[in-house]
Amino acid sequence: MPVLTEPVALEEPVTPATRRARVALLGFGQVGAAVAARAAAPPVNTRLQIAGALVRDPARRSPPGVPLVTDVSALWDPAPDAVIEVLGGLEPARTCVLGALERGIPVVTANKSLIAHHGDELLAASRRNGVALRYEASVVAGVPFLGTLARRPLARDVSQVTGILNGTSNFVLTRVSRNHEDIPTALDEARRLGFAEADATKDLDGTDAAEKLSVLIRLLGHRFVHPSVIARTGIGCLQPADLQQASEFGGVIKPVATADWSAGPVTSFVGPAFLPLTHPLASLEGVTNAVCLSRPGHAHVVFSGPGAGPHVTAATVLDDVLELLGEDGGRTGWSGLAPRASIGAPSESAWFVRLDLGAGAPDQRDVADLLGSFGVWIARTASPGGIHHPLTRWILTHPVAPARLSAALEALALSCGCRACSLPILEDSNA
Ligand SMILES: NC(=O)c1ccc[n+]([C@@H]2O[C@H](COP(=O)([O-])OP(=O)(O)OC[C@H]3O[C@@H](n4cnc5c(N)ncnc54)[C@H](OP(=O)(O)O)[C@@H]3O)[C@@H](O)[C@H]2O)c1
Repeated sequence: MPVLTEPVALEEPVTPATRRARVALLGFGQVGAAVAARAAAPPVNTRLQIAGALVRDPARRSPPGVPLVTDVSALWDPAPDAVIEVLGGLEPARTCVLGALERGIPVVTANKSLIAHHGDELLAASRRNGVALRYEASVVAGVPFLGTLARRPLARDVSQVTGILNGTSNFVLTRVSRNHEDIPTALDEARRLGFAEADATKDLDGTDAAEKLSVLIRLLGHRFVHPSVIARTGIGCLQPADLQQASEFGGVIKPVATADWSAGPVTSFVGPAFLPLTHPLASLEGVTNAVCLSRPGHAHVVFSGPGAGPHVTAATVLDDVLELLGEDGGRTGWSGLAPRASIGAPSESAWFVRLDLGAGAPDQRDVADLLGSFGVWIARTASPGGIHHPLTRWILTHPVAPARLSAALEALALSCGCRACSLPILEDSNA
């Protein structure tokens, strides 16, 4: 296995007629290796070659024909025609990508954290140096819809995006719902099948989906919303009984990410939500991802498919590279620079609420009266009882602002020690 610390040289001489584009890989893990494998096979191998790859520890990898380096500067001379960043994380990815852009080398990245946190800085560098920065594989990598929309300004004129952007949490909730497993058991199964990392915290607490939502808001809404300001709830607040009760109420609980800028300011939310069965995302099971695009008064459009996976991600990354190296230099009209968005107050919605009432609980009427005094009106209620949940009650509310609901539930907690878990109900905008 070649390990280089010197500038990387091409293995074979090329003439203008046969010259293949030289592409440097930053990272040779799951996605990097899949990119190299795909690039070595027809038809991509006639258009480009992998000139070298940056890794931490070359001893761990043995890529045929790809020189490995541990110092990124070894990749800059001679300069590659494009760079693919698949290191993950913020550093050294940010520094390496900036280094490429400052040298006038276009970059394609699959790294949602990088774009969500440093998108402004990187896109400014891309514009300053007149080179492309593509990041469409960073979100729902296996559903290459963003490239299509990039050339379709009318089709992408949407003001709301709702998606299931994290396959791990969708897989877990599907198992809990179908098999009545608890979340840790379903997560173990996800790990066994390779759908979850050993540390799945960022998948379960909504961090991963919030970063992807930030990227989607940038691409589709032309606004920058830092992932940290996206309201977020992890799926860990759920109990298996919540998913059973959701089914009794004629719906399903899904891990969603949603943003709306139809009124100007952006409202956004990541976390479990109750979806009526008519909602286009309600039937999405397992690790499948989907994105539903809409604007008031128009039918929504839904894209779904594998959200991740090294091979589908590699295909999207390579399509981006081939396109930006193409004759027209890639697409026009897909402006990456985005002004910082003003953030709107969370919008009103109906709510699915679990109340753990505890001993000495007030009766149903007293609860309804207390909630009503805050403007929270109950649409449906259920208290199935049984030995497992003698003091648990679920309610569906009429639409109410989240602040009112929180105030009502706090008052209920003060009056009787009741604990509550509330999920927004997302309506089917086509219904
Ligand atoms: N996996 C997927 O299905 C998928 C799908 C969509 C997007 N993505 C995104 O693609 C990116 C890569 O994911 P992955 O699954 O391929 O990750 P991975 O398997 O962990 O690979 C990371 C690679 O980067 C290298 N690396 C990390 N830190 C480095 C450092 N400080 N210096 C030099 N090299 C370093 C690693 O070197 P070593 O080889 O020495 O460890 C490894 O080759 C992430 O941003 C991820 O979110 C992944």
